[in-house]
Amino acid sequence: MAAKKLLILPGDGIGVEVMAQVRRIIDWMARKRKIEFEITEGLIGGSSYDVHGTPLSDETLAAAMAADAVLLGAVGGPKWDDLPFDVKPERGLLKIRKEMGLFANLRPATVLEALADASTLKNEVVAGLDIMILRELTGGLYFGQPRGIDTLPDGTRKGYNTLVYTTPEIQRIGRVAFDLARKRNKKLCSVDKANVLECTVLWREEMIKLQKEEFPDVELSHMYVDNAAMQLVRNPKQFDVMVTENMFGDILSDCAAMLTGSLGMLPSASLGEADAQGRRKALYEPVHGSAPDIAGKDMANPLATIMSFAMCLRYSFDMAAEADLIENAVKNVLKGGLRTADIMQPGKAKVSTTVMGEAVVRELDKLNA
Ligand code: NAD
Ligand code: IPM
Ligand code: MN
Repeated sequence: MAAKKLLILPGDGIGVEVMAQVRRIIDWMARKRKIEFEITEGLIGGSSYDVHGTPLSDETLAAAMAADAVLLGAVGGPKWDDLPFDVKPERGLLKIRKEMGLFANLRPATVLEALADASTLKNEVVAGLDIMILRELTGGLYFGQPRGIDTLPDGTRKGYNTLVYTTPEIQRIGRVAFDLARKRNKKLCSVDKANVLECTVLWREEMIKLQKEEFPDVELSHMYVDNAAMQLVRNPKQFDVMVTENMFGDILSDCAAMLTGSLGMLPSASLGEADAQGRRKALYEPVHGSAPDIAGKDMANPLATIMSFAMCLRYSFDMAAEADLIENAVKNVLKGGLRTADIMQPGKAKVSTTVMGEAVVRELDKLNA
């Protein structure tokens, strides 16, 4: 089998710290499961700006286009907050998503048994939770034109963004959503704001058409996004797959993260359209950011990024057994009582980012024995 081409972009802040732990897992996979990786490391975000004057260089973008998969840590931080808008670290992340055509962002929120009491919500509300938020990632309010900040003749300033989707954009994310639902519990909830925004009236119409014409076996429901945010906290287990607009999905997935105990637990996969061979461009990253408040302290939770690598093995490399190994190793480490600060519970052992990464590797060894 040809070596798997992996591009690793640690980014900024805790992105660098959590990615160092993923490197241990990759090394382990190479040594113990004889998977050949061809690894390139690159810069993105503020760390790229510092060297190249841009948050995403042509060289990094070309490497991403040539890779079988990209692993990304996180971007951003106070050091770069006052840069001009076009060179802010976040622009690099948005550009790589757009250029790679990664329109489908899978953000699974699962509550691991050992962490059912770590959530700020009651155990019975979250125990056993397993939902999938599918966020549209290359359209909607984040990318719609026109956008900008203008100064009007009378000196008033005007800031504006546009929420826009075309029918092909809605249909392609819809198909991914229905497909995911078909492989799970055949229940899809489409989240919109069709009572107020025309763009999402179209979104709803297209979802209804798709269900009738291509996915009659999947049960489709609709919910307004404000209610969906409330329902996620009130009774999250009513959901299975949720599909929604770019910004709605950004907000709902941070909300869902807290159901699992911490933002540091939520992995994600961003996928493009399948080519003739069924291969998709793909980028894997935790849902969290660069966490400036804890960066440089070796205290970030690396599990979201480690589980993002598991998603990479599952979705890009068809290595379900290896993905299961990582997920089981994570479960066992948590069962054993180790906790980073964000998921700390009474009676458990508080450990650093590094110790958590080492513990997952030790557990992989045990499971693989
Ligand atoms: P954040 O996700 O970085 O942090 C929010 C809170 O969650 C903080 O208290 C942080 O300490 C905590 N947290 C996040 N990840 C954690 C982890 N792995 N372990 C333990 N605690 C964790 O969001 P923010 O503070 O709003 O943003 C900080 C910077 O990150 C900004 O520049 C923002 O633009 C950027 N950001 C980047 C991404 C990304 O790269 N995908 C995502 C979100 C935010
Ligand atoms: C995320 C982040 C990004 C987003 C930012 C950093 C551009 O919040 O990945 O969830 O809004 O998509
Ligand atoms: Mn976000």
